[in-house]
Amino acid sequence: MSAVDIWSADLPDVPDNLDIQFWNLNDPLTRLFDPNTFDLIHSRCVGPGIKRSRWNSYITELARLLRRGGWLQMAEYYYNIQSDSGRLREDHAMYKWGVTYRGLMEDDRDPRVGRSLVDKMRNAGFRDVYSHTYRIPIGPWSGGMYDPSLRFISVTISVGYTWAAACEGDVPRSFANPSNIMANRLQSYEDEVRLLVVQEPKGAGWGRFRLCFGTRNL
Ligand SMILES: C[S@@+](CC[C@H](N)C(=O)[O-])C[C@H]1O[C@@H](n2cnc3c(N)ncnc32)[C@H](O)[C@@H]1O
Repeated sequence: MSAVDIWSADLPDVPDNLDIQFWNLNDPLTRLFDPNTFDLIHSRCVGPGIKRSRWNSYITELARLLRRGGWLQMAEYYYNIQSDSGRLREDHAMYKWGVTYRGLMEDDRDPRVGRSLVDKMRNAGFRDVYSHTYRIPIGPWSGGMYDPSLRFISVTISVGYTWAAACEGDVPRSFANPSNIMANRLQSYEDEVRLLVVQEPKGAGWGRFRLCFGTRNL
C-alpha cells in the first residue's frame, strides 16, 4: 500500500505494509509510480492543493496507474457552509468564511471541483462512475439528520474542524501571501467558526462532500 503527500505527517502508527512517498500531486505521478500498478486509488480532500489546470491530467494519470478493472475513488468538499435554521445570513462568520475561502481558492484552484468529478472521470475513460453528495456536519456528528453509517467517511471530518482548516501543502498563491487582506480575515473567521462550533456543537450547519468512484475501462 502506498500513500502520497507533499509533507511528512506525524502518524501515530505506520503499518509495515505502508510505503509513504513525498510528492507534489501537481507534478506528473507517472514519474513516481509505474503504470498498471494499483487495484484501488483513493484521492480525498486534496482540492485546495491541486491547481485548477491540473485536474484533468491528474485523473488521467491516476487511470494509468490503475490495473485494468481497478477502481478510483475521489472525494472533495464544496466549501460553502449551509444551515437549515436560516441563521446563516451574510453577516454570519460561517458564511463569510465560505465566501472568503472560495474567493482565495479561485485564484488558481477550483473550489467547485466536486461537481465536475464525474465528468472528469468519464472523460478520463472511467466507466460505472457513481457519485453521491453527503451532508457533513460542522461540529460533532449528531443523531437525527446524520446517518451514523456515514461515520466511515472520516473521524477527522466528524470533529468538523476540517472545515475551518487552513490550506496545507502546495497552497494557493493567495493563501500564502501574508499581506493578502482576505487571507488574514479568513483566520479571524476561522476563529469565530471554531467558537461557534464549541458554543453550539450540534447546530453549527453543514457542508457538501462529493464522493465519486468508477472503474478503469478494460
Ligand atoms: C485536508 S488534508 C486531507 C488528508 C487526507 N487525504 C484525508 O482525506 O484525510 C489535505 C492534505 O493534502 C496534502 N496536499 C495538499 N496539496 C498537496 C499537493 N499538491 N501534493 C501532495 N499533497 C498535497 C496536504 O499536505 C494535506 O496533508
